[in-house]
Amino acid sequence: MPAAEPSSRKIRVLVVDDIIETRENVRKLLYFEDDIEIVGTASNGREGVELVAKLLPDIVLMDINMPGMDGIAASEAIAAQNVNAQVIMMSVQGEADYLRRSMLAGAREFLIKPFSGEELATSIRRVYQLSAARRAAAPIAPQPTSASAPSPPPPPRGGQVIAIFGSKGGCGASTLAVNLAVALREDTKERVAIMDANFEFGDIGVLLNLPNNRTIADLAGPKLEIDEEIVNASMAGHGSGIKALLAPPRPEMAELITAEHCKTIIEILPKMFDYVIVDLWRSFQEQTVTLLDAANQILLVSTSDIPAIKNAKLFFELTDALKYPPEKTCFILNKEDGRSGIGPRDIEASIKHPVRLTLPKDERTTLLALNRGTPFFMIQRKVPLSQAVLLLARSLQHQETRQASVPASAAPPQPPQKTGWLRRK
Ligand SMILES: Nc1ncnc2c1ncn2[C@@H]1O[C@H](COP(=O)(O)OP(=O)(O)OP(=O)(O)O)[C@@H](O)[C@H]1O
Ligand SMILES: [Mg+2]
Repeated sequence: MPAAEPSSRKIRVLVVDDIIETRENVRKLLYFEDDIEIVGTASNGREGVELVAKLLPDIVLMDINMPGMDGIAASEAIAAQNVNAQVIMMSVQGEADYLRRSMLAGAREFLIKPFSGEELATSIRRVYQLSAARRAAAPIAPQPTSASAPSPPPPPRGGQVIAIFGSKGGCGASTLAVNLAVALREDTKERVAIMDANFEFGDIGVLLNLPNNRTIADLAGPKLEIDEEIVNASMAGHGSGIKALLAPPRPEMAELITAEHCKTIIEILPKMFDYVIVDLWRSFQEQTVTLLDAANQILLVSTSDIPAIKNAKLFFELTDALKYPPEKTCFILNKEDGRSGIGPRDIEASIKHPVRLTLPKDERTTLLALNRGTPFFMIQRKVPLSQAVLLLARSLQHQETRQASVPASAAPPQPPQKTGWLRRK
C-alpha cells in the first residue's frame, strides 16, 4: 500500500452516513489500507459534528442526504469549528447541484457513489496531504517551508505573467498557451507555470493529458488561507517540467473561483515561478480583468477572419479604457495560410496596433499533438509552427534576446520601437 505522507502516522477517518451498509462498505474498502484508520462512525450530521470535536479526525467521509442535519449543514458546522478535519462528500449520481453547495460548505472533495476502494483511498490521501501542506505552511510568518512539505524552491525574482486571450472561440489561444509554456521551459530551464483561467470549460488538462484531481478548486474553500504551499499542492506536474493550475473538474464549480481568489493566486504564482502563462476565457468579468491587470504581457491571439478582427478591435478599445499601455498587449495572428485575403497590413490598419507575430496554420501538427495529449513543441520541434513559438518564447525572455532574428515565414512587421517588442511592463 502506498504510504501516507508527510507523516508516518495513520490518517484518521470518521464516516458519517445514515445507511449502515454504506458505513460497513467503506470500512471494507479501507480495510487493507495500512495508512488509513477508521476512528469512528456516525449515522447523522449532528452526531458527526459532535464526533469531530471529540475524535479530531483528519478526514470526514460525509454523506449528503441524511435525516435531521444533512451533510451540507454538518460540513458547514465542521468548517466553523476550529479543527483540522477535512470533509470529503459522498453522493450518488444525479446530485450535481450538491457538488457546488458542498464545496461552498467547505467540503474538499466530492466522491460519486459507488466508488472503488482505490478511488476512496486516493481521495483520502490527497485531501490529507493538501491539508498537511497547508498546516506546514501555517506557522509563524517568516519561515517559508517545512522540511517535509513538497516545496517550491525559494523565489528568485518576480516572475513574469503572460496572459493569453483569444479574440474568438477556437482561434488557438489554449494551444499557444501550452506550447509557449513548454518552449519557455525548455529554452530557459527556468520555472514555468500555466494557469487555466477558463474556469468552466478549461482545456489545459486535456491538452497536457493531466488528471484533474488537482485543480484551482482546491484553493476555493471558505476561510482557506492561500499560500505558496497550498498553491503548489494544488498544481499538477507535467513531464516537460512545467506545472499546471488546472480549471475545476466540473463547470458548475467555476463560480467558486472569485476575483479575490484570482488576485491572491496571481500574486503568489510569480513568487514561485519565473514565467506564469495564464490562459484566459473570453470575458471581461472581474476575474478576467484581475488577471489581465496583473499581466506583464497580454498576447491577443486572433485569426484573420472578420469576426475575429472585429473582436480584436473591441479588445483593444477595452484595454485602452483600462489604461493599459499599448505595448502591454501584443497581437498575434494564428493559423495564417494567406487564404483569407486579409493580410497583416489590413489588420493593422483596422485594429490600429501592430501584428507582432504570425503563426502559420498547420493542421497536421496540431491534430497530432491533440491526439497525443502532448504539446506539438515537444514532438514536432522542427516545423515552422514550433519555430515560431520558440521565437515568441525568446522574445519574452530578457531584453538582449528579444531582437533574435525572425524567420521570414514567422516574421512580424516590426514598427520601430525603442524598447524592443514584448517588453515587460
Ligand atoms: N496554428 C494552428 N494551425 C492549425 N490549427 C490550429 C493552430 N492553432 C490551433 N489550432 C487548432 O485550433 C483548434 C482550437 O484551438 P484552441 O482550443 O487552442 O483554441 P482556443 O482559442 O483556446 O479555443 P476556445 O475558445 O475553445 O478556448 C484546435 O483544434 C487546435 O488544434
Ligand atoms: Mg481555449
